[in-house]
Amino acid sequence: MYKIMTKRRLNSVVVLIEVEAPFVARKCEAGQFVVVRADQNGERIPLTIADYNRTENKITLVYQELGYSTKRLSTKNVGDSLQDVAGPLGLPAELENCHKVLGIGGGVGAAPLYPQLKKLAEKGTEVDVILGGRTAELVILENEFRTFSHDLTVVTDDGSYGMKGTVVDALLRLTQTKPYDQVIAIGPLPMMRAVVLQTQKLNIPTMVSLNPIMIDGTGMCGGCRVTVGGKTKFACVDGPDFDGFKVDFDECLRRQAMYKKDERQYEDHHRCLIGLEEK
Ligand SMILES: Cc1cc2nc3c(=O)[nH]c(=O)nc-3n(C[C@H](O)[C@H](O)[C@H](O)COP(=O)(O)OP(=O)(O)OC[C@H]3O[C@@H](n4cnc5c(N)ncnc54)[C@H](O)[C@@H]3O)c2cc1C
Ligand code: FES
Repeated sequence: MYKIMTKRRLNSVVVLIEVEAPFVARKCEAGQFVVVRADQNGERIPLTIADYNRTENKITLVYQELGYSTKRLSTKNVGDSLQDVAGPLGLPAELENCHKVLGIGGGVGAAPLYPQLKKLAEKGTEVDVILGGRTAELVILENEFRTFSHDLTVVTDDGSYGMKGTVVDALLRLTQTKPYDQVIAIGPLPMMRAVVLQTQKLNIPTMVSLNPIMIDGTGMCGGCRVTVGGKTKFACVDGPDFDGFKVDFDECLRRQAMYKKDERQYEDHHRCLIGLEEK
């Protein structure tokens, strides 16, 4: 069992937990994720390892309460245990030969971005950060990023904190004067696509992290299929990080919309799970 060691609410919809998971903490690298099951009747959900501490045997998970499983996870408190924490899964992020990197995190995408930039900074890479949110409350982990970032820009859609605008506005401003050799953008698909459209014009290589619906997380079901460079890839074993210039974002968005359209089906499924629990 995987004990929750600390729990901290970052805003009204995002929660940070530190979980005792010795085997995962020992092996994991930035960019990898775990599949979590809150309890015996829970669904398996993929969550990025936002940080890890090998000596204290713990990993950090930051999740947005969206639907059944993430809300179920939130019913757990410090001292409670999670049923499963399987991993580390996925490939570690490739972080070689970068000198000046710009990391862009949109909303809860700041969580998966954090370990990658932290590792780069530890290796001596100069790291600038853009953190974006629709509104001030949704900008997370700012203090954590400040510990290693050279230049940190906060942007909000409504201007309630930092610069008013989108992460793309900040990207265009920063790239006027700074010669980045790599961008890492993690956030909602439309955000990553908008970033890539600009970085392609600026010819700055850009890594993105894809989070399609995953089922087994081990390359067997095909649920997380994406097209990268014209080839079929499974985000769970070939990613989740990919070269943004090669990702077929239109297909990713179509597949995501397909699941969202079936929201009622989701609800029925969740009702069914709740029913099972009550029996
Ligand atoms: C590799 C990977 C890493 C991830 N890391 C994180 C993380 O660190 N923090 C975090 O908050 N989330 C992360 N996610 C997304 C997270 O897994 C989903 O938000 C979660 O499974 C939703 O489960 P739920 O039962 O609460 O919501 P559901 O009831 O299943 O879904 C609620 C709504 O969210 C949408 N949704 C469900 N899954 C996804 C998804 N994978 N991507 C986009 N929309 C989705 C549904 O279409 C629906 O509209 C990651 C996903 C992947 C594939
Ligand atoms: S989640 Fe099944 S193949 Fe990736």
